[in-house]
Amino acid sequence: MKKILVTGGAGYIGSTLCTLLIDNGYKVKTVDYLAFGGESLTHLIANTNFEFVKGDIRDAELMRNTMKDCDAIVHLAAIVGDPACAKQPELAESINWGGSVQLFNLAQEMTNIKQFVFASTCSNYGKMKGTDFVIETSELSPVSLYAQLKVKFEKMLFETEVREDLTATALRFATVYGFSTRMRYDLTVNEFTRDLYLGEKLIIFGEQFWRPYCHVKDLARSCKLILESPKDKVRQNVFNVGDTTENYTKRMLADLIASKIPNSNIEFVQRTEDPRDYRVNFTKIQSELGFDITLKVEDGVLEIIKALESGILSDPKDKKYQNI
Ligand SMILES: NC(=O)c1ccc[n+]([C@@H]2O[C@H](COP(=O)([O-])OP(=O)(O)OC[C@H]3O[C@@H](n4cnc5c(N)ncnc54)[C@H](O)[C@@H]3O)[C@@H](O)[C@H]2O)c1
Repeated sequence: MKKILVTGGAGYIGSTLCTLLIDNGYKVKTVDYLAFGGESLTHLIANTNFEFVKGDIRDAELMRNTMKDCDAIVHLAAIVGDPACAKQPELAESINWGGSVQLFNLAQEMTNIKQFVFASTCSNYGKMKGTDFVIETSELSPVSLYAQLKVKFEKMLFETEVREDLTATALRFATVYGFSTRMRYDLTVNEFTRDLYLGEKLIIFGEQFWRPYCHVKDLARSCKLILESPKDKVRQNVFNVGDTTENYTKRMLADLIASKIPNSNIEFVQRTEDPRDYRVNFTKIQSELGFDITLKVEDGVLEIIKALESGILSDPKDKKYQNI
């Protein structure tokens, strides 16, 4: 049975991935310094196939010890999102770049590690030049520190001579949504749905800007797929993760959500604060690895509404559900 090290496993995507891997017979270890608490993993803690290590991925000794009995790493730990990185640029540089490089160098050194999967982002594309869909080989134009650090790490990954029996893959995730045991309400679909459900007026800027979206469970499935794919198909390779039919403008998203929530109050305003605008093609992961999504934005919206209706989170506006 393979043992997978998931860094940032207590996070929004990480907690979903740890659960998926455990449910599919993997042994899982996770390192997380619990910036948002560890409640997201409490359902796994008694499972004998699951180990939790509380610590910082920048601690080389801790990571060396932790990695000793693992076969592969899915590296998710990071300061996540443009606003969080802009607010703490030194910390972002130190974790997203410094900590990630150190982790990868350890993986190169430790011959028991056979695979390294890096969580990158479609934000790397920044602003589209034309109206065409971007693909993996399109020019990258990161417009934030967050994306610049992801691009820099990808470049390092693909320019380094990687140990022959180590397979490194970068996954450019679409913007994620959906319910997770570590809930994030600072993600567009989740935030719009929450605010409209709570009867608040939604003020939307950049209504015409395109972005791709993918459910958190499908992103977790894509990590598992990479771990299970033939090495020659994923080695030193990069894949966009999402579905080409799931690109939306903010207006399309707002209209979709409003169609599920009666009396939604939305105002569209002109502001150019977030210049990201990209439509992404996801054919590569589908045709080369057979990846298909199982959930669409509409499913995610209904899931969030159900969670809000149930009152399972007593205060969905609590700051702990935000990364900033
Ligand atoms: N959420 C998205 O839309 C999205 C899109 C594209 C890519 N990604 C990438 O996916 C990954 C996971 O994102 P998420 O949404 O689950 O974020 P998250 O903020 O919910 O989770 C990140 C986790 O990493 C941990 N962490 C951060 N720095 C650490 C450190 N130095 N040592 C140990 N633990 C540390 C945090 O405590 C947290 O639990 C990130 O690399 C992110 O850049 C996310």
